[in-house]
Amino acid sequence: MLLARYTVIGGDASQDLAKRISRRLKAEYIGARLRVFPDGEQKITLTANPGRGTIIIVQSTPPPVDSNLIQALSLVHKAGENGSKVFAVIPYIGYARQDKEFLSGEIVTMKTVAGLLRSAGASKVFVIDIHSKAALKQFKSAGRNISAIPDLARYLKKQRLNNPLIVSPDLGGAERAREFAELFNSGFVALEKRRDRRTGSVRIVSSDLGEVRNRDLILVDDMISTGGSIIKATKFLKKQGCRRIFVACTHSLLINDAEAKIRKAGVTGIISTNTIPGDTSVVDVSATIAKAIQDS
Ligand code: R5P
Repeated sequence: MLLARYTVIGGDASQDLAKRISRRLKAEYIGARLRVFPDGEQKITLTANPGRGTIIIVQSTPPPVDSNLIQALSLVHKAGENGSKVFAVIPYIGYARQDKEFLSGEIVTMKTVAGLLRSAGASKVFVIDIHSKAALKQFKSAGRNISAIPDLARYLKKQRLNNPLIVSPDLGGAERAREFAELFNSGFVALEKRRDRRTGSVRIVSSDLGEVRNRDLILVDDMISTGGSIIKATKFLKKQGCRRIFVACTHSLLINDAEAKIRKAGVTGIISTNTIPGDTSVVDVSATIAKAIQDS
C-alpha cells in the first residue's frame, strides 16, 4: 500500500500539536511566523513554500478567536493555491456554541465560519469534540468530528479513584459522559442546567442525586471558558455529599482566573487535552488526530 504524502502547516496557535501530528504522519512540516502590526493586522510568513499533495493546516481558534480564525483561513487559502488538496484541522473551533438561533435575530456564526473554511479551500474540516451535532452539521459533508474522550478516559484511569461516577454538567453533554462512562466501566448522570439566554447566567435545576454520595466524580465537558458551568455543577455536587471532583474536558480556555475559581469551588484536578496549550493540557491527542486523517 502506498503511503499518502502529507505536508503539515502549523498555525501560530497550534505549533506544538501540529509538529506532533506531522511526526506521526511522517509528513514534511512547515511553520508559520507571525507579525502583528499596531493596527492588529497580521502578517503570516511560511517557513517554506508547500509543494503539491495533501496539505494539512493545524490551527485552533482560542482567544484572540478572530485573529486565529483569519490565520486558519489564510493558511488554508495559501495551501490550495497550487492545486493541492487541503484539510483544515481546527482542534478547538470557536463559535461552535453559536450553532442555533436561540433568540430571534441571533446569527448562527458557526455557519458563517464553516462556509468561510470551505470557500477558502478546505475539502475536509477536522474538529475535536465540537460542542454539538448542530455545530458539526454547519460544515455539511466536509465536517469530521474526532472524539478525544478515549484519550481523556485513558489518562483518568491511571488515577486512584474511589467508586467513580461520570457526570455531565448539562443534558447537552450526556452523550460524551456516556461514552466516557462506558470506557471507564462505570455509571453516568447528566445534570440539568438552565441558561438565561439574555444574561448568559446558568443554574442547576436537577433534583437531589443520591448516587453521588461518598463517590469520586469526574465531570466531563467539551470546554471550560469562564468556569461558570463547572463551578455551578461542583457546588451542587458537593452539597450532595460527593468525595473528590475531577474535571476532564477537551478544550480548556480557562479565561482570566477561571482555574483558581474552579479549584476554590472544590475541584481536585482539571485534566484537558493539548487542543489548546496550557497548564492543564496534559493529554496529547496528536495520535488520535493523525489516525483520523489517515483513515479519512
Ligand atoms: C456549554 O454548554 C458548554 O458545554 C460548556 O459547559 C460551557 O460553554 C463552558 O463555558 P463556561 O466555562 O464559561 O461556563
